[in-house]
Amino acid sequence: MGKIIDGKALSQAVKDEVKEQVPLLEEKYGRKPCLVVIIVGENPASQVYVRNKVKAAAYTGMESRLIELPADISEEALLGQIAALNEDPLVDGILVQLPLPKHIDEEKVIDAISREKDVDGFHPGNVAGLWLGKDCIVPCTPAGVMRMLDSIGCELKGKNAVVVGRSNIVGKPMAKLLLDRHATVTIAHSRTADLGAVCRTADVLVLAVGKAGLVTGDMVKPGAVLIDVGMNRNAEGKLCGDADFASCEPVAGWITPVPGGVGPMTIAMLMQNTIHCFLSREAR
Ligand code: GUN
Repeated sequence: MGKIIDGKALSQAVKDEVKEQVPLLEEKYGRKPCLVVIIVGENPASQVYVRNKVKAAAYTGMESRLIELPADISEEALLGQIAALNEDPLVDGILVQLPLPKHIDEEKVIDAISREKDVDGFHPGNVAGLWLGKDCIVPCTPAGVMRMLDSIGCELKGKNAVVVGRSNIVGKPMAKLLLDRHATVTIAHSRTADLGAVCRTADVLVLAVGKAGLVTGDMVKPGAVLIDVGMNRNAEGKLCGDADFASCEPVAGWITPVPGGVGPMTIAMLMQNTIHCFLSREAR
């Protein structure tokens, strides 16, 4: 029977760490860290995510601001807002919730956020930093997964890690973080010939595809650690991951639930990244 990795409890611990840091930072530097979250349009899932991000920031005691922009805002106007926030000395972190409406070029927006305020770790400078092993902001979701693996004392050296999914936000940075811990890393994806066979090699299996029930128990190595980054709605409208939990849980050694697994960790790591940006800016 797979033991559950409780992302909700662990994220609470991370947020509490940040909550303890905030007053110390304010005392030392004369101001609190400040996170600005921008949402464009009315994607209901994005609205829930950003609300939870701002709520978490408020919980830690840091400053935060939510900027809600209409779906038909021009790319130019959005870039103008970002430019102003880049210049604002009191703003440490800028997050633009993705996806953006079709008429806005996401890459342009990501590039426009100053690297030092890029709490998502999506800016090319931070991506390069991650792959070159330099000090940088690590994307929140993969950082949260690493924290979950550490919480169960998972030794990665020499282990087979399989990441299913190759997005810039999760799959690719996830693979690099596992590689940094000396795991033997495989990235599988939608064109992988025999996904089951590849998944069965995994001591640590990270699912980040966005397809409900993609991985079933017969695809999991007995005792493996299964981390489910998926956030899907099943036919009944219930939130579920990429793993078929019912069949995977008896096989896995450890497993993350959806909801209550990786999702809350992403938000907690965003708080940590905001502190990281604050400290890098104050140390200049
Ligand atoms: N959309 C889904 N996940 C993320 C994330 O981690 N950051 C941002 N900015 N948008 C997202």
